[in-house]
Order: sequence, then C-alpha cells, then structure tokens
Amino acid sequence: MAEPFYVTTPIYYPSDRLHIGHALTTTMADTIARYKRMRGYDVWFLTGSDEHGQKIQRKAAEAGISPQEYVDRIVATFQELWRQLGISYDDFLRTTEERHKKAVQTLFRRLEAQGDIYKSTYHGWYCTPCETFWTETRLAQGCCPDCGRPVEKVAEEGYFFRLGRYADQWLRFVEENPDFIQPPSRRNEMISFVRGGLEDLCISRTTFDWGIPVPGDPKHVIYVWFDALTNYISALGWGTSEQEKFEKYWPAVTHLVGKDIVRFHTIIWPIMLMAAGVAPPRRVFGHGWLMVSGGKMSKSKGNVVDPMVLIEKYGADAIRYFLLRELPYGADGYYTEEALVERYNRDLANDLGNLFSRSLAMVERYAGGVVPVPGPATERETELAAVVRHSIARTEQELERLDFAGALAAIWEVVDRANKYVDEAAPWNLAREKQTERLHTVLYHLVETLRVLTVLLAPFMPGLPPRVWPQLGLEAAPQLQEWESIHRWGSFPPGAKVKRKAPLFPRQEGVAAPVAEAATPASTVPQITPRKEVTLTEMATVSIDDFARLDLRVAEVEAAERVAGTDRLLKLALRVGEEERTVVAGIAQVYQPEELVGRQVVLLANLQPAKLRGITSQGMILAASDGEAISLLTVDRPIASGSKIT
Ligand code: MSP
Repeated sequence: MAEPFYVTTPIYYPSDRLHIGHALTTTMADTIARYKRMRGYDVWFLTGSDEHGQKIQRKAAEAGISPQEYVDRIVATFQELWRQLGISYDDFLRTTEERHKKAVQTLFRRLEAQGDIYKSTYHGWYCTPCETFWTETRLAQGCCPDCGRPVEKVAEEGYFFRLGRYADQWLRFVEENPDFIQPPSRRNEMISFVRGGLEDLCISRTTFDWGIPVPGDPKHVIYVWFDALTNYISALGWGTSEQEKFEKYWPAVTHLVGKDIVRFHTIIWPIMLMAAGVAPPRRVFGHGWLMVSGGKMSKSKGNVVDPMVLIEKYGADAIRYFLLRELPYGADGYYTEEALVERYNRDLANDLGNLFSRSLAMVERYAGGVVPVPGPATERETELAAVVRHSIARTEQELERLDFAGALAAIWEVVDRANKYVDEAAPWNLAREKQTERLHTVLYHLVETLRVLTVLLAPFMPGLPPRVWPQLGLEAAPQLQEWESIHRWGSFPPGAKVKRKAPLFPRQEGVAAPVAEAATPASTVPQITPRKEVTLTEMATVSIDDFARLDLRVAEVEAAERVAGTDRLLKLALRVGEEERTVVAGIAQVYQPEELVGRQVVLLANLQPAKLRGITSQGMILAASDGEAISLLTVDRPIASGSKIT
C-alpha cells in the first residue's frame, strides 16, 4: 500500500484578497504534493479559509454586510486564485462548514471533560490583526511583538486551556523528534519560548459573536486559533463515525506555515492534540517571508502585490518559479517586478527556453524532425549523464527537506551543462562536416536531457509538461513522463517525431518605469508593433556584456595580395586608426585583391592572433555567408578608420 503523505497550508483569513506572500506558501505545498504523488505516495493536500474572529466581523460591519456574506465573497477569490495558479488541493476546508464546527466542539468538550479547560477571567491585551492574546510583559513598547501594531485591553470572562500543564511533555516530544520543527533555527527559538514558561491560554471570547459557540455556554465563542488549528483534523473526519481519512493520513503530515505562525503550530497545536490523546503532527516547516519595497506588504502602505495580475502578465508557471526560486531555505526573500522579469528572462527565456528551442530546431534541421538512433557515447555524453544523475539525486534530497530554491538550483545545473554541451559539441559543425553518427549521438542526448528536465520541473511548473510532451513527440508515452523513468538515462525512444512550437517562455520586455502622462499627443508617437517571433536558435544567447567584450572596429584596406600556395586566402594590410594590422581572410575566391584597396571593412580587433600559412593574422574581417556566396561587411557611409562598432 502506498505510503500516506498529508500536506497542509495555513487556512487564510478571508478578511481581504490574498497577496503574493500567501501564494508562496500554497505554491510550496502544491509543489511538494505533486512531487510526492509522482513518487507514488498516497497524497492528501488540504488548504482552506479561516473565517471566524473579531477581525472578520469588523470588516463585514465596515462593508455593511453579514460576516457570512463577506467571507463567501472573498473565499470565492481564493479559490479562483488557486485555480489560476494550478494548485492541486484535494480538499478546501472552510471553518464555517458544519463538519468543522462539530469537530471543534467535540475537541473542546473532550478537553473540558478531562479538566484541561476551566473558566476564569482574562486580563490582558489582544492584537486583533493577529488574533493573539498577549500578557503585559510580552508586549514590545506597548504594541504587538509580532506585527508591531497597537493592542487592545481585554478584561472578560473566558475559558482557559491548561497549556502550562503540558510544557514538560512538549519538551520531551521535541527532544525525541528533532525533525518536528524545521528549519532547525526555528526549533531553538520555540524551545527557549517554552522554557521561558507557558501560561494557560484563553480560548474563548464574549465581546463579539462571529465564531463557534462554546458547547453549553453560547455567550462565548471559541477563540479563533483554537477553532482554526483544528481544521487539520476536522477535514479528515476526526471525531466522527467516518474517520478513515484521519486514520490513514494522521500524523503523516507536513504543515507548511509562515514564520509568524510557527508558535501556534509547534506549541499550541501539538499540546491541544497531546491533551486530546492524538499524536502531534510529524513536521512543521516555517518558511521566511516575501518582502517588498517598503518591507512587509500591507494595505496601509499600498505595497500589496496581487498575484492574479502577475499570473495574467507572466503566466502561472513563471510566478511559481519565481516564488520557489527566490526564497533561500528558511530565509526571507524579496519581490520586485524587475527581479521577476530578470529571473524570467535569464532562467526561463534564455537558459531553459533556448535550450528547448535550439535543440528541437536542430533535430528538425539535421534529422528531419525524427529523434535519431545515437552512435557510441563519448566522454562528453558520459559527463552530461553524470551531471544529470547528480542533479536528480540532489533535487530529491532538497525536496525532501523542503528546500525548493536548492532543488531548482540543482535542476539548473543540468540546464547549464546542456547548453554548454550544445556549444562544445557544435552540431552545426558536425552537420557541415557530415559526421552523421556523431551528430545523431549529440541530438539524441539533447532530447533525452529535455525529457529529464521536463519531468524534474513538473512539480514546480505543472503547466510545462503538457506543452512540452507534444513537442518531444512523447504525449502518448506516460511511462516516459514518470519520475522513476528519469533514473533510466537513455530511455528516449529513437524514431519519436519532434514538433517545435512557439517558445516556451517568450522574452519579456523590461518593466516600464512609470511615465508621467505624456505631453505629446499619442498619435504623433510612432507605434512599435511587436515583431513576429523569429527563432534563430542554434547558438546560446549572449548578454549585452558578452557583446561588449568584442572590439569591433572600422578598418581601411591599404593593400591586399594573394597568399602564395592557396586559392582561398588573401593577406590584407589594414589601417585601424593609428594602428596597422595584418589580417588573413578566406575570401580570395570571391574578391580580387585590387577591388578591396581603399574599402572600409569591419574588423574584430581583439580576436586572439592565429598563424595561417606562416602569417600571423591579427584579427578577422566580418562577412556574411549563406553557405556559398560571401559578402563583406562594410559601413553605410564613410567614417574615420578605427571607429568603434557598438
Ligand atoms: N488564519 C491564520 C492561519 C491559521 S492556520 C491554522 C493566518 N492567516 S493569514 O492569512 O494571515 O496568513 C496565512 C499565512 O500567510 C501565514 O503563514 C503567513 O506567514 C503567510 N504570509 C502572509 N504574508 C506573507 C508574506 N509576505 N510572505 C510569506 N508568507 C506570508 O495567519
């Protein structure tokens, strides 16, 4: 029987629409869920909405509608976002559902019956945005120590949960389960929090009514965190006569949460469970925050980034890629649209996209679009295979420990190696030199690499495989799309027909700086219509910096003569500004020496000198060639010799 794997996201407050920080946790959860499914686990992936509490009740009142109506509207936008982002959850739990309310009340009753809940009066502080109680001593300059916002004084009758009673049991549990809290830095933080003393937790409120009533005392509603945390088992049917899911998936769970709510998940939640006689969760992972300019995203700062807008602009796969790649393991990451576009263009359009299109273009051009039978592998192929093998192993390890950025970095080792492989193996030369067997070997290893990459990337960018498989001619070969198949290097079936389509990730223009409303009437501004996509994909793209390393100059031919003993070579004496250069050029069959004298040509001046027929050639003059005809590059109008070409 397949091993169970249960993964959860926090249930989000439907007080507002979700932003890109929320999309981060859910994308992580989706990626690990998809990966585990590919590895044959029996996966259950839960997300949902945390709909009760004072904050929501206030928001609804401000909007002049009932809390239920308010949350219904916002929850619909959550579900739409997850649809657009390709989130493959198995269940979406809303805390206003009957199945959940019943479980929360069952848990409350059970703890009360065994004396773990008692009635008293709460005197202290409350942070409504965080829905958190604080004692005077924990406040930071009178404000919430988590979010820094003002707190409200509370003095009300309440039910208390005997959290303190379980402190030792908790410490023992954490010691015996070193992997429970991840990453390890957060574990140490939580241990010192508990060692500092655990107070009993107030778990009911009386000053508003948008919540689950305390059984037998409906003047009180259950504290929203007690309510919310229970979602992880209420969604599995815990406490009902239909508990099969609970029995199957609990406690094989990974709770993914942001660092701000690690305390609730690693201290309060396991203690609630311990008290109820239920095993604590197996693993809680607290990831860092996605920061934006201005720090944390907040409505009041006006720096909230809407993921829907980005998905529309760049596509879901690109947004998922950015989120997963940008946050170093356990640490914070930063979002700017410029950084997003830069990553997109560098990693997706250039590195990955070009590798696909240039490889497929070459199979089409040099092998009629049919994947050829490879000849014997050389050292180059052995090395490529070793990089692939190593990258697969590392991707698997990184995903196990939820280091998504590390896993993607491992996958990009293959992308980089494969691009180098193309440049080094230079299939265009093999084609010209008619080294067909070698050419076929190279083309075969390239498509095999593309297949492996597509499988590796499937959990991260689920929109990619459905676009790639038809291009590789593998849409009807599900066994070659499975994770296990990438451990069998060389499985690509020769004879498959490739079909190159539009680029996977068309380059994005830079982000336009906000322009003040133009003074020029729009009609006088020349309109640039986007050019049709032309793919000249044999060579890797170069950056503008790469181009700047070429010293291209205008040179004047002062003298020209044939090189004795060849019918191809001309020796040219060039003037380049103050300097004289000698260059040997293979143009004698097309140009007579005398017709060149006085002409301006384009010289690559910093090419490493080379000896040809005993003459040192100090550069290269540029010419266009269609394979037969040769045409020298020249300048459009006379210009000082030595002028730089930029
Ligand atoms: N409702 C509670 C969770 C209850 S779980 C039983 C809650 N909701 S929330 O909507 O405020 O936040 C949900 C999650 O979003 C948290 O894990 C939080 O860390 C995360 N994030 C909110 N802003 C974030 C970023 N800017 N970056 C990354 N994650 C962020 O808390």
